Amino acid sequence: MDRQLCTKQITAGITTYVVRAFANIAFIKYWGRVDHNLFLPANSSISMTVSGCATTASASFPSESDADILIMRSSSGKTTVLSPEDRKSCALYAHIKRIRDASGRTGFVTVEAANNFPSDAGLASSASSFCAITGALLLAFGLRDVFDDKRELSRYVRLAGSGSAVRSVYGGFVQWNKGNSCETSVAEQLKNEYHWDLVDLIAIVETKKKKYSSSYGHEIADTSPFFTQRISRISDRLGMVRHAILEKDFTQLGELIEADSNCMHTVMRTSKPSLNYWNDGTQEVMREVQKLRNKGVEAYFTIDAGANVHVLCQLQDALSVHEAIQKLDHVSSVIINKAAKGAQILS
Ligand code: PMV
Repeated sequence: MDRQLCTKQITAGITTYVVRAFANIAFIKYWGRVDHNLFLPANSSISMTVSGCATTASASFPSESDADILIMRSSSGKTTVLSPEDRKSCALYAHIKRIRDASGRTGFVTVEAANNFPSDAGLASSASSFCAITGALLLAFGLRDVFDDKRELSRYVRLAGSGSAVRSVYGGFVQWNKGNSCETSVAEQLKNEYHWDLVDLIAIVETKKKKYSSSYGHEIADTSPFFTQRISRISDRLGMVRHAILEKDFTQLGELIEADSNCMHTVMRTSKPSLNYWNDGTQEVMREVQKLRNKGVEAYFTIDAGANVHVLCQLQDALSVHEAIQKLDHVSSVIINKAAKGAQILS
């Protein structure tokens, strides 16, 4: 797909700016906000940027254009022109305007974003796509200095509308500090992608669009009686996860990420209305992970706002864990990830 986008830019003779960003898997989840307009999260979060789930976004200025256009290409090849009327797309169209206004330039831009993995299935497609789109827009509108300043880039990415996208700015292991303002709610890299050869195997049990958007979930998170309890313990948990990453303590990391995933899903289930993202496949994979551990193979699960399950293990166990989960009844495929790079300019 990268090649396809690049070929197009040459044949059309138009300058095209291309950025690739990878999705990330949250070890400590972001769930709930204190400011829904500025996308300020209720808690800081930590993630690993993942190599198997990428979005390549291009931005260009076709000469005859009289409006901004956003085009998404799914991994199955389906192309959708996003409507400015749609809630999520509307935020992205506003984001184009925000970046154009900040640049002081004019001109209508066409943005194409292609995912190499299923979109809207709880695989953080908005993280990689919102990050790549923001990067391509900044370059197209001449804001290369903002792109190069990763703190500033993460600030712009946050305003696109997907908080988790903030963490995809960096490679490796990343913390998004909740902050208390637009300026302070930014990401920082804890360790780069070469620090630890962890493997994240994503068991795909669902490729359809999820029932409830994560944005809706953030809005109602604080209706759960367990919301405040989770937030009050999060700073201890963040410290322990950071420590486990720095010391490469896999047992500690695994136990903590599974616990935080379970806590977040309890908050989801007990919010009003109740959100349940799991299906039979989700539970089958979770049971298998437990069975693997009983047999002495260290693997841990974590699940974002969707049914698919991320199974974390160390490199030496990746083959046996992969074998075990790919043969499960509900698993249609497995995406293999290691820690990836942050947002990168491709051209
Ligand atoms: O970035 P959003 O608005 O799609 O929210 C992401 C929420 C989770 O994936 C469930 C957790 C996280 O921190 O990535």
